Amino acid sequence: MRTAHPRKLFVTTALPYANGAFHIGHIMEYIQADIWVRFQRMQGNEVHFVGADDAHGAPIMIAAEKAGVTPQEFVANIAAGRKQYLDGFHIAFDNWHSTDGPENHELSRDIYRRLRDAGLITTKTIEQFYDPVKNMFLPDRYIKGECPKCGTKDQYGDACENCSAVYAPTDLKNPYSTLTGATPVMKSSEHFFFKLSDPKCTEFLRAWALDPHRLQPEVANKAREWLDGEEGLGDWDISRDAPYFGIEIPDAPGKYFYVWLDAPIGYLASLKNYFDKTGRDFSAFLADPSSEQYHFIGKDITYFHTLFWPAVLQFSGLKTPNNVFVHGFITVSGEKMSKSRGTGISPLRYLDIGMNPEWLRYYIAAKLNAKVEDVDFNPDDFVLRVNSDLIGKYVNIASRAAGFITKRFGGQLSDAVSGDAAMSWKLRFAEQEAAIRDAYEAREYGKAIRQIMALADEVNQYVDTKKPWELAKNPANDQELQDVCSNLLRSFYCLTIFLAPILPALARKVSTLFRMERDLTWADLQSSPTAIGTFEHLMQRVDPKMLDALFEAPAAAVTHPHPGLPLEGEGEDGGAIEALAPEIKIDDFTKIDLRIAKIVHCEHVEGSDKLLRLTLDVGEGRTRNVFSGIKSAYQPEELVGKLTVLVANLAPRKMKFGVSEGMVLAASAADEKTNPGIYILNPWPGAEPGMRIR
Ligand code: MSP
Ligand code: ZN
Repeated sequence: MRTAHPRKLFVTTALPYANGAFHIGHIMEYIQADIWVRFQRMQGNEVHFVGADDAHGAPIMIAAEKAGVTPQEFVANIAAGRKQYLDGFHIAFDNWHSTDGPENHELSRDIYRRLRDAGLITTKTIEQFYDPVKNMFLPDRYIKGECPKCGTKDQYGDACENCSAVYAPTDLKNPYSTLTGATPVMKSSEHFFFKLSDPKCTEFLRAWALDPHRLQPEVANKAREWLDGEEGLGDWDISRDAPYFGIEIPDAPGKYFYVWLDAPIGYLASLKNYFDKTGRDFSAFLADPSSEQYHFIGKDITYFHTLFWPAVLQFSGLKTPNNVFVHGFITVSGEKMSKSRGTGISPLRYLDIGMNPEWLRYYIAAKLNAKVEDVDFNPDDFVLRVNSDLIGKYVNIASRAAGFITKRFGGQLSDAVSGDAAMSWKLRFAEQEAAIRDAYEAREYGKAIRQIMALADEVNQYVDTKKPWELAKNPANDQELQDVCSNLLRSFYCLTIFLAPILPALARKVSTLFRMERDLTWADLQSSPTAIGTFEHLMQRVDPKMLDALFEAPAAAVTHPHPGLPLEGEGEDGGAIEALAPEIKIDDFTKIDLRIAKIVHCEHVEGSDKLLRLTLDVGEGRTRNVFSGIKSAYQPEELVGKLTVLVANLAPRKMKFGVSEGMVLAASAADEKTNPGIYILNPWPGAEPGMRIR
């Protein structure tokens, strides 16, 4: 079970762009990796699990400029918000760093020099669009113009949204820079390239990527397509001209590494930062042939991780990844996430409304396998799996048995090997152990859960036959009652060990129940508890209403932005405002009854760090109670006596703290990091409570 020589594992997740808060896609990736990491630790392996913010690139530079801060301040601000998500979902990174840290500057420059010494860097002069007002070269995403085919205005430089024509940015008619509106000019400049086309690169990559023991089959197929494509691998443009937020290229003033060159090096930089802080030897770890390196990533960034990254490492003389584990995307009720439409699940809202993070970990795990498949979050399915499987089949075993053992038998379990059932379970659990372990190792979490739940089913059948609640009625059955409940608790103990990578906080509670007070390990399957302490309720069922609260579009101000899916290559679109909602007709608008409301009272809501409770007079001869997520922006006393605007015909909504009878309007930036402010509306003097806004 536990190997004589613990493995030494270095594990990462993709480094998120530092221009937005985490969205549910990030959380899904972290949950997948965290389960694997916890599983490996339970096996006694040594794991170093690190992340970092991907700080560099044009979009972040531009976003910082818009926010009126330096890129460094901008990134620091985003970084400061990370902890609440990671702690909230029990993601146990050992270290979180930034690609703008000194380690990454040093490592990136060093790696570049080695690639140059290996003869793999070349320069070429290329022509690109340039914004003459902003004095910078324009990444394609900042160029729009008219479709060369159908003439539709405001199209991006790759494809037309109207006629679907595909073209190059230079084909656009009347192109303009979305940053300044200026007409871009063509300008040439010298760029640095990594010579991926060099036969030794291709040869190495073919061996690395097509090794049958490495990539997932569908990922290997993609790699094969890329490697065997008509033109083969092209050289990779790794430089950008100033102004650029990045790392300056050695001996090339004014030239910076393209963000995707230094971003993966950030994995190593975060590890180095962690090792330096904890007195470990970074170089020795990398040089150790027995250490293993794994990267968890989403499917959109496969190219960077299966071609560029291994080649960069190989030809700078560093250790290449043992594997890259690619996952699909999370969709919500079958839909892709989108920032402008606000679908998706806000991870912070999930936590704020009191949903248990381990429900999500369990649900995502139950749907994950080792393939590159998308995972759908379906609210009804979520409720079902959590309530019927997790609680109904597993958690309930403890609730059914623990009470009797505490109240009737002073917390003592009867002899470990008593009873046939105890024996047969010991065998059944032992028999399944290897299969469950293999499933975790192979990231087949759904399969692991199915196997674990099948064991739970057997245990529940035993409960149904033995009926401990019946046994409890007659003191003559005491011995049997104690045996049955002991068997149940021992099986619960084993099931908990099996589920611990997915449910770390619950497992910790169970360890406390068995008076162990430490994290469980796989080796604990060998031991058998003899007593329990006080039974604490382990886990609540999901109230389906919580899902309504999770999805209901909250007042503008309560929304946590969901940064959309970035385009391949760099971060978010730097457009000036959030995209407009689809066009509506006037009667769509008149369906919404907006009224002037007077704030007659306002107070903090105990237990909420987002909400204020407003008492509003809308001229109806009664007041209304409305919760609004504006606590970060206003003190209750500033608001009392003021007029504002209320959506007055919104269905009342039951929230954790009471019923909200409407919604007050407030403005906020699409990305709270560009402008974290929340601005409630205030009519001109003369407006009176109850007046309709039309
Ligand atoms: N900064 C780059 C990665 C650099 S790694 C050296 C990046 N950042 S990202 O923030 O856009 O994405 C981070 C990770 O989240 C990626 O692995 C990406 O695939 C993943 N996801 C983004 N949207 C996702 C979903 N909807 N579902 C699951 N994961 C998704 O790419
Ligand atoms: Zn067109």
